[in-house]
Amino acid sequence: MTETETYQISLEAAEVYESRFVPAIFAEWAPLLVDSAAVRAGQAVLDVACGTGIVARTAADRMGDDGAVVGLDLNEAMLTVARRIRPDLRWQQGDAADLPFPDRAFDVALCQMSLMFMPDRARAVAELARVTRAGGTVGIVVPAGITEQPAYRRLVDVAVDEAGPDAASLLDAYWSCGDLGELRSLFTAAGLHDLDLRTHLGTARFGSVDEMVATEVEGSPLGGRIDDATYGRIRERARSELAEFENPDGVAAPLRGHVVVGHVAHGATPDR
Ligand SMILES: C[S@@+](CC[C@H](N)C(=O)[O-])C[C@H]1O[C@@H](n2cnc3c(N)ncnc32)[C@H](O)[C@@H]1O
Repeated sequence: MTETETYQISLEAAEVYESRFVPAIFAEWAPLLVDSAAVRAGQAVLDVACGTGIVARTAADRMGDDGAVVGLDLNEAMLTVARRIRPDLRWQQGDAADLPFPDRAFDVALCQMSLMFMPDRARAVAELARVTRAGGTVGIVVPAGITEQPAYRRLVDVAVDEAGPDAASLLDAYWSCGDLGELRSLFTAAGLHDLDLRTHLGTARFGSVDEMVATEVEGSPLGGRIDDATYGRIRERARSELAEFENPDGVAAPLRGHVVVGHVAHGATPDR
């Protein structure tokens, strides 16, 4: 299977992503990223690994009619939903590691909550820098590491207790790119400078602890590795371990993320 095929999800899953997970988790970060990158009218903006397009839409709203936005993702179903919501923007399938755009095509290149899934992060950041004009801006958002996530850390601890130490790495994808030193190095190696690294405390909202557990476990490789009894014990223990994060609407889990912005030097030549 090619990497492009691996990432295909159904249209139904992409609609669930948009209706449930974008408002509950991802929407909060888009204005922070767009503001940090100082997106303004008249710019050409690229949203890499755009999913259903929350960052692209936010950037387009900032620019009104004056600007051009492209959203790119590996996943066709995500792009189908993005197109349904904003047919006026340009949506294109492609790989962050090999962007199908010429050098310096954009004023701003953004990537939200996706770099942690990419096998070659250095290459992905270098590609963001390559397609950004001299003096332009590259910005990303990634979740901070698991030690900075009080609610998620408890869930991982419960999973490790019940399913063994491998559970930590099986649940690790989201938290694997949260080291600020590593992020700084990735940006610097891509020739980006005047870096601005900020950590923001956001919230991931779920209807219940069970829903949070289902999202984390079933959405990760752990889901396919544990039997029903183990899954039941994880769910049961999580209900008490995460009780302090419950409210009348469900669960509000703190979610810390890093917003990192850098600039392409004036007069820089793209690195390949
Ligand atoms: C958690 S979603 C984030 C989507 C969107 N940026 C948001 O904030 O809602 C991760 C996205 O990364 C995409 N993705 C993962 N690896 C990719 C790659 N190498 N190139 C392009 N897209 C990729 C997935 O298809 C998915 O849509």
